Amino acid sequence: MSWGLISEMGYIGIQTTNIEASVWDATQLLGLRETNRADGTVYLSASDVHHELVYVESDVDGVDTFGLVARDGYALRAIRRRVEDEGFQIISERPRGLGIEDGFTFVGPENFVFEIYIGMQQNQASFKSFGPDRYGHLNFHPKDVTGMMKFLHRVLDFRLSDVIGDDFAYFMRCNPDHHGIALVKGQGTLHHHAWETQSIADLGKLGDRLHKAGRELIWGPVRHGAGHNVAAYYVETSGAVVELYTDLEQIYDDNRDPIIWGQDENWWNMWSSYRPEDFRKHGIMPVVREPKNLLR
Ligand SMILES: [Fe+2]
Repeated sequence: MSWGLISEMGYIGIQTTNIEASVWDATQLLGLRETNRADGTVYLSASDVHHELVYVESDVDGVDTFGLVARDGYALRAIRRRVEDEGFQIISERPRGLGIEDGFTFVGPENFVFEIYIGMQQNQASFKSFGPDRYGHLNFHPKDVTGMMKFLHRVLDFRLSDVIGDDFAYFMRCNPDHHGIALVKGQGTLHHHAWETQSIADLGKLGDRLHKAGRELIWGPVRHGAGHNVAAYYVETSGAVVELYTDLEQIYDDNRDPIIWGQDENWWNMWSSYRPEDFRKHGIMPVVREPKNLLR
């Protein structure tokens, strides 16, 4: 079921100063498969599509692209018109990477870059990995969080699932998943990208892999109030946080009213009120690629 112009969360693109360490994290800690590699760009996936995570070699660590899947060609063109009407800068009229049939890329509010596309190829990797089933959501921290929420609704048809406080945080969906995008008021950074897995036992196995590598979870497993998912988090090489989660609320009523939480209500963990102080301090800034790199 889908009722908007965006039907699915597509992929997250990240610029990294250490692409091999980033790929090691994604394949050996999270459990994705590398599906393609060209021109300093590595494509990875947990599911059958060509990519759900892209690392771009760079001299900075930062968030490169939020990839979103348009419902069909009509939806792609409708979003293209909305973006133009709103005056956002379109930086590519065709897919910027491999594996995508049609799409365009624009610079949205606060320099976050969005690629809207249709027709991603299947990948050629033959086996499932030990890792998650798919890319699920992203969580970022706009300075103008209410402005970003309104942009996502007005231009990309996202709907509100939960609202936290007054001008503080919003959870938004583009399909029955409780949230594809979560917004928390902050310093203009991406906080985390999140991956769905089958079982809470998989979160324990992630903890074991991190321990073996001399790394650690920075929070969790926890049971979130908003979204109801059980989640655990670690920091990847780029500085972004990665979430592995399961048991996310599914919303089949397209007109469900948003759930309203007070900012100090315990919406973050139903099992405990503890929250690590530095959890929200992690994250990476958006980086718009130099024009010379835009047309490759
Ligand atoms: Fe999350």
